[in-house]
Amino acid sequence: MKRTFTMIKPDAVENGHTGAILEKINSAGFRIVGLKKTQLTQSDAEAFYAVHKERPFFGELVAFMTRGPIVAAVLEKDNAVNDFRTLIGATNPEDAAEGTIRQLYATSVGENAVHGSDSDENAAIEIGFHFSGRELF
Ligand code: RTP
Ligand code: MG
Repeated sequence: MKRTFTMIKPDAVENGHTGAILEKINSAGFRIVGLKKTQLTQSDAEAFYAVHKERPFFGELVAFMTRGPIVAAVLEKDNAVNDFRTLIGATNPEDAAEGTIRQLYATSVGENAVHGSDSDENAAIEIGFHFSGRELF
């Protein structure tokens, strides 16, 4: 079994899609190992998305990710990272495949409903950023 990390982003939480997104995650065969609703601080969001700090959308991304609560989760499944990226769909919802979480719930390339780790290595870093061992079951 492998693990990945997700956040239901502020747009999807605001729009009342938390329950529907968790249901899709469950139905796709992921086990929810850790789950919390929280709000990122400016420094949390800057650190989490540090890889994008030179990109023109960085300020907008940090403002978006801190404007309201998120739901963070650790998910377990065979091939978790890649299977979850398939379930969420392309970054831009206009390019996201039919039935994917972003196609269903994202509003724009910036406000795209969910995050998914892009590698096993980053999943481990992101899980450690948000959860302690005692919060994972
Ligand atoms: P994520 O890390 O959130 O799972 O998204 P991703 O891998 O599909 O996309 P990535 O390239 O890592 O971009 C991170 C997040 O930055 C925002 N973004 N905005 N305005 C824009 O052109 C733009 N491009 C990216 C999105 O919220 C994207 O998910
Ligand atoms: Mg990414």
